[in-house]
Amino acid sequence: MDPNEFRGPYNPNPPKPKKQAPVIHFDQELLQGVDKIIAVASGKGGVGKSTVAVNLAITMARLGYKVGLADADVYGPSVPKMTGTEGTMPRVEVYDAEGTPWPEDREIEPTCKEVFVPVVKYGVKWMSIGYFAAPEQALIWRGPMASTALKQIVLQTAWGKLDYLFIDMPPGTGDIHISLVNDIPLTGAIIVSTPQAVALADVEKGVNMFRNPQIDKHIFGILENMSWFTPEELPDNRYYIFGHDGCAEMCRKYNLPLLGQIPLVQGIREGGDEGTPAALHDGPIFDALKGVAKML
Ligand SMILES: Nc1ncnc2c1ncn2[C@@H]1O[C@H](COP(=O)(O)OP(=O)(O)O)[C@@H](O)[C@H]1O
Ligand SMILES: [Mg+2]
Repeated sequence: MDPNEFRGPYNPNPPKPKKQAPVIHFDQELLQGVDKIIAVASGKGGVGKSTVAVNLAITMARLGYKVGLADADVYGPSVPKMTGTEGTMPRVEVYDAEGTPWPEDREIEPTCKEVFVPVVKYGVKWMSIGYFAAPEQALIWRGPMASTALKQIVLQTAWGKLDYLFIDMPPGTGDIHISLVNDIPLTGAIIVSTPQAVALADVEKGVNMFRNPQIDKHIFGILENMSWFTPEELPDNRYYIFGHDGCAEMCRKYNLPLLGQIPLVQGIREGGDEGTPAALHDGPIFDALKGVAKML
């Protein structure tokens, strides 16, 4: 007999109260205080999209703007590591339907709203799916789950008042990108690429996605990363490892501005690995991204 059906005076197996998960509310209420929402996208992985997104957020914060970054790369969240905030668990606040804080000792009801509080470091508000998973844990999402997780990171976070919210997009141009881009009031996108042909081929897909009539989002321009390598001991030498002016040509083809060129520098890689992004200090990436800031 199902214990839930037992209606006698004594129930040896009293039914446990069923816990209902709170409904996820995907409205755009928490983005109301955000002035500009900018996706940092790339067709290909490994071109430095997260490096650029993290350093751009820090550069903008150094310039005095209020900045947040949502790490929407559900498959390879790298913001916690790059910012040295790994292992931090964002606080969750619970409100009732009217927006009044829910008492901590009361069981959460389906009408409650749960909101993530972003992690603050280097003057930037960070939120990542990586905060909710162990670093070595592979995140295997099916399409709809990935889309939901992604929207939670952006739409269920208490961003407060921001001048800029950057979104580190997953690489590619698949269904989850289209779903994300449609559900978030994007101001526009920055496309990151290296100058090499295989990366540029994917840039075209990215441009076409944002320009697709059903999506139709503004593209601020292309930001070239790993434009050249300069060794520390030969500061005047530039080695064009991934090709020369590839992004400039792509910009001409699609009538887009070239937002800047970031050199390949050992300190940029080290800063990312150590959780102290290079843009915290003056140097080549801060200089390049200061120029980008003026164009956003
Ligand atoms: N300008 C650069 N100079 C040196 N290393 C870089 C630069 N940009 C990115 N990297 C390194 O390249 C790797 C890939 O960058 P990442 O930002 O994770 O790419 P993506 O997010 O596009 O997959 C990382 O190890 C990062 O530190
Ligand atoms: Mg990345």
